[in-house]
Amino acid sequence: MEKSFPIVVLISGTGSNLQAIIDQCHLAQSPVNISAVVSNQAKAQGLQRATQAGIKTQVVSASEFPDRHEYDRQLMRTIDHYQPRLVVLAGFMRILSREFVEHYQHQLINIHPSLLPDFRGLNTHQRAIDAGVKTHGATVHYVTYELDSGPVVLQAKVSVDSADTPASLAERVLEKEHIIYPMVINWIAQGKVQYRDQNIYVDGNKMAKPLQYPIEPADS
Ligand code: GRF
Repeated sequence: MEKSFPIVVLISGTGSNLQAIIDQCHLAQSPVNISAVVSNQAKAQGLQRATQAGIKTQVVSASEFPDRHEYDRQLMRTIDHYQPRLVVLAGFMRILSREFVEHYQHQLINIHPSLLPDFRGLNTHQRAIDAGVKTHGATVHYVTYELDSGPVVLQAKVSVDSADTPASLAERVLEKEHIIYPMVINWIAQGKVQYRDQNIYVDGNKMAKPLQYPIEPADS
């Protein structure tokens, strides 16, 4: 299949989600092409993953800019050079300005390590354990102005065990992240999932509630 859907992936760290996306894009049937990987951290391990896969990398370091506004403008210039159809936040550890979010409205997605709206923000696994929840997980959502609050496309659940530590829970949640993030990117590239007029549409139908992985067969 022709790789006709360019994306740019933003990272700050390990890049295990990036790796899952790279692996998916390499499949013959994927229409997705990663045009560039952009990091705010020069030492991000994910940059090596990108280089190994032959993907262009760029670092936009916050220390070179006076404020968030200027930083985000440079980030936008960097991203726009590649004219992506979708901007994918994959562990990009920065709050984004309103201007940035507006610029990529309907074209900006994120993965968050909790079942949103539960546990927005950081340290989600520790907080899930502290709260004593039995079920935790991961969420792929479009990005809006409010942190970790945009419309949800797909979630995957994991059971929380009494012996779980934040690390053990993170490991199991990450396994799910690596499945659901490439899946959603593929759906968007294929036009199966669309976000317009504040609503998400799946196969042309307005989505009433977030999809859950594993995907249930449609009602016949
Ligand atoms: C993941 O847990 C993701 O949900 C969160 O940041 C982490 C990134 O991990 N947004 P990695 O860099 O993809 O390994």
